[in-house]
Amino acid sequence: MVFKLISIFPEMLENILSVSIIGRAVKKGLLEINYVNLRDYTEDKHKKVDDYPFGGGPGMLLKPEPVFRAIMDNKIVDTRVIYMSPKGKPLNQQLVEELSNEKDLMIIAGHYEGLDQRIIDHYIDEVISIGDYVLTGGELPAAILVDAVGRLIPGVLSNEESGMIESHSDILLEHPQYTRPREFNGIEVPDVLLSGNHQRILKWQRFKSLETTINNRPDLINDKSDLINEYFQLKAYFGQDIK
Ligand SMILES: C[S@@+](CC[C@H](N)C(=O)[O-])C[C@H]1O[C@@H](n2cnc3c(N)ncnc32)[C@H](O)[C@@H]1O
Repeated sequence: MVFKLISIFPEMLENILSVSIIGRAVKKGLLEINYVNLRDYTEDKHKKVDDYPFGGGPGMLLKPEPVFRAIMDNKIVDTRVIYMSPKGKPLNQQLVEELSNEKDLMIIAGHYEGLDQRIIDHYIDEVISIGDYVLTGGELPAAILVDAVGRLIPGVLSNEESGMIESHSDILLEHPQYTRPREFNGIEVPDVLLSGNHQRILKWQRFKSLETTINNRPDLINDKSDLINEYFQLKAYFGQDIK
């Protein structure tokens, strides 16, 4: 899969994406990431990428011409062009999975007050937000999208990692996990995990997964009465003493 990242700070993206799992996947040739500097598509000697908004108002906008040239110069027939913006549709695992089927993803990181609306209306396929808050630039959102999509590309995660059931791969959030030592600062690992009873451990993990979802993200489960009933059944099964 090829990612084409358009930004005025490509080095910021490269710093994040050239290490760890995504960096390794690039070195192995499983992913290709092209860093495109928007300033290379300016035509004046100061490499100016921004200008004042018509109608006034605070801040600057990215000028349409360099963005247009950068898109056209790097786009092929199959490229899906994405603009990261707090005005976009929320990024979730379903959208990440859908995007992982693409061959060529172009991601534009905005800056200042963002892009001229004509670019968004005519040259962008999708506007995506990473959450209901505003960052100073689109580099971190673009890196988040590359990381989330890139890890789904076959071979990027080890077999062991990709076989895991994680939060958002289904409706429920992942159950809590513990590692050695068995006792840390006087706090013990739940007995059930040391019992060796595989069936009971699976049941406990399901219970804790339901509990975590109900406590942290009730919106994911509110209309699922079967899951809520299952939670209360498991709670009764394990009793109050379970840690
Ligand atoms: C200061 S923001 C612009 C915010 C814009 N004026 C607004 O109110 O919607 C600058 C850039 O950061 C990026 N950005 C900021 N927050 C984001 C978010 N929650 N999701 C995706 N991109 C974001 C976008 O690329 C945006 O063009």
